[in-house]
Amino acid sequence: MLSEKVLLITGVSGGIGYAIMEDLVIKIKNLITSSRKKLTDFLKLDPVPRNLEHIPLDLTIEKNVQDLFQQIKKKYGRLDIMINCVGGSLYSHPIEDFPVDEYDKVMEVNLKSAFLLTKFGIRMMKNNEEGGNIVHFVSSSAKNISKNKAPYGVAKAGLAHLIHYAAFEAAKYDIKINGISPTYVFTPRHEREINEKIQKTGVKRDEIIKSKLSRQLLKKELYPNDLLDVVKLLITTESITGQIYNCAMGEILSY
Ligand SMILES: NC(=O)c1ccc[n+]([C@@H]2O[C@H](COP(=O)([O-])OP(=O)(O)OC[C@H]3O[C@@H](n4cnc5c(N)ncnc54)[C@H](OP(=O)(O)O)[C@@H]3O)[C@@H](O)[C@H]2O)c1
Repeated sequence: MLSEKVLLITGVSGGIGYAIMEDLVIKIKNLITSSRKKLTDFLKLDPVPRNLEHIPLDLTIEKNVQDLFQQIKKKYGRLDIMINCVGGSLYSHPIEDFPVDEYDKVMEVNLKSAFLLTKFGIRMMKNNEEGGNIVHFVSSSAKNISKNKAPYGVAKAGLAHLIHYAAFEAAKYDIKINGISPTYVFTPRHEREINEKIQKTGVKRDEIIKSKLSRQLLKKELYPNDLLDVVKLLITTESITGQIYNCAMGEILSY
């Protein structure tokens, strides 16, 4: 039962992670969250829920990820579910101009952190009699082309295949590992970026939205809360592993 589970959400201070946290904090026994920011820098809930513990860490560093899992083990004794929302495209340049230090950063945030979280997640969940569930956030950029975001697309394509490898290796421990691959999600950060664009360029909001939705079959804006039904499926499934769910309003591949 979900209400008896110990669950970790990483990247909780971002738009998607925060929406998942808000949804699950009332359903879960113990919710541990992590990202670099402190809880007071992003939490809008008052009072702080008693079943919520936030551990601020840079999750691209192996020692930090190891510490996170050691702290969870010490305090809760187990981890049943992990939802990894760490990521971001961070920079925009054509490949010919992409600074290599920015390339490295994109890889670290989107792929290395996911690798480390999977590594220590499997190590811990394999001790559970009933295994566990891991969900990573991929992106439609793993298959599609997002202008000037080559390292992000490549990192997310790597993450998609990491999910396949990890599901293969962890199946013997009954750990189910899957991914959710959204198209453009209208998070508070993206809303700020859209408003900045409107102010800078004078382009109308309707035109910006129309271009964002141009590849989608369903001409609707995708919000973090629209992802919650798939999150619930993948954190509770006993039969699905190694799959990437496209939550992309029917986005079609186009260059
Ligand atoms: N929004 C979209 O349109 C969209 C579409 C497809 C896929 N996705 C993917 O979905 C996931 C969540 O997206 P989002 O829109 O919610 O992103 P976001 O608002 O930019 O949040 C990113 C999260 O990652 C955390 N993070 C970044 N670097 C970190 C580090 N070194 N160590 C620990 N935490 C770190 C951030 O927290 P701190 O700053 O506190 O460290 C933040 O909580 C990402 O993987 C993203 O690539 C998003």
